[in-house]
Order: sequence, then structure tokens, then C-alpha cells
Amino acid sequence: MAGVLIAVEGIDGAGKTTQAKRLVRLLNRMGVKAAYTREPTGGSIGKLVRRHLSGRRTYSEETVTLLFAADRLDHIQRFIEPQLKRGITIVADRYVHSSIAYQAAATGMREWVISVNSLARRPDISIFVDVNPKEALARLGHRRKYVYERLEFLEKVRSEYIRLVESGEMMIVDGSGTREEVAQRISTVVEPLLRERGLV
Ligand SMILES: Nc1ncnc2c1ncn2[C@@H]1O[C@H](COP(=O)(O)OP(=O)(O)O)[C@@H](O)[C@H]1O
Ligand SMILES: [Mg+2]
Repeated sequence: MAGVLIAVEGIDGAGKTTQAKRLVRLLNRMGVKAAYTREPTGGSIGKLVRRHLSGRRTYSEETVTLLFAADRLDHIQRFIEPQLKRGITIVADRYVHSSIAYQAAATGMREWVISVNSLARRPDISIFVDVNPKEALARLGHRRKYVYERLEFLEKVRSEYIRLVESGEMMIVDGSGTREEVAQRISTVVEPLLRERGLV
């Protein structure tokens, strides 16, 4: 039986990494073989993207949009599809909706960004962990900020995610409260999918 692809999405500081890793542990405890992965990847294209995010090398936003999309196709071909075929459920810490939300906000060319990402396999479920941008930035604390971690920009990204929720492409989960409360809300939206696919 094939695994399912679960994307954990949201703005910087929303708790994606915390929740994606927790979800993998929960799935494994439930007897569902699951693995964590993240984007941008650690591969050669992902490294270029990470360099841009850290401000060490600045490409135009249009170039970065293409790099994000290329990193994802490589991730899908090299890792995600083979794992799913082997029956492993994949929890992706950012996936295609990050590209759409961030790059639409950064370039102002939503339709172009969507078309550039059209070859990427859609996730079986994409969860928008919604935290207000002020709270999310406060969670990140005083660590060095990446290029997209500014309040006004994250407000725009949040609006793009909300559009995707309204169009039915993503499920929204309230990301406020404790890590345990958020994890509980996420498991509530994931469980029906696992039952539907016969994984639990
Ligand atoms: N529910 C929560 N309440 C308070 N702090 C949280 C919560 N979830 C995560 N954090 C903390 O907030 C910071 C950002 O979380 P992280 O999971 O790295 O977010 P993201 O991957 O979305 O940027 C981390 O220091 C993490 O420990
Ligand atoms: Mg993270």
C-alpha cells in the first residue's frame, strides 16, 4: 500500500518543524511507517535556495521561484515518489504551497508561480498551521532573520495561504496555544485521510 504525502505549511515561526517532526513520531507510534523531509532540500539546488534565504547570495525573486520549483521536482523524483511507492508516508516541512504563497507574495505574479509549479505532485493533504505573524516572529526570538522574515511580508504570505485555504487546496489548523494543542488539532485533520487510505 502506498504512503501518503502530508505537507505542513505556514509562515516562518509558525511551528512547522516542531509539528512535522511530532507528527512523524505519532504516525510511527500508530503503526504507520513515516518519514520527515523538508524543503528547501539539502541537495545541490536546495543549497542555492538556502544561500539566497540567508542573504549570502541574492538572486532575483523570479530566479528563486524557478530554483524552488526545480529543487522540489528533484526532491519528488529522488526521494518522495520512491518512498511513497515503498509504502512510507512522507511528512514534508514545507512543500508546493510554500512556493505559491511566498513566491506569489514576492513576485506579484501568482498565476506564473502556479504554472511554474504545475508539475509538482500535489500533496494528499496540505495543512496550513496558522499563527499571526507578530506571534510567529516573536517565537523566532532574536536569532538572525532570513530574508522573508519581516512582518509586512509575512502578512502578505499569510493572505496567500488563506486564499489557498478558501480555494479548497489546504486545510487550516489554528497554530496558537501549546505545542500539544496544535499537535492534537493536526492529528484530527490527518486521521480521516489515513483511515480513507486504509493505513490505520
Ligand atoms: N505552540 C508553540 N508555542 C510556543 N512556541 C512554539 C510552539 N511551537 C513551536 N514553538 C517554538 O517556536 C519556534 C519556531 O518553531 P518552528 O517549529 O521552528 O517553526 P517553523 O518551522 O514554522 O519556522 C521554535 O523555537 C519552537 O520551539
Ligand atoms: Mg522550520
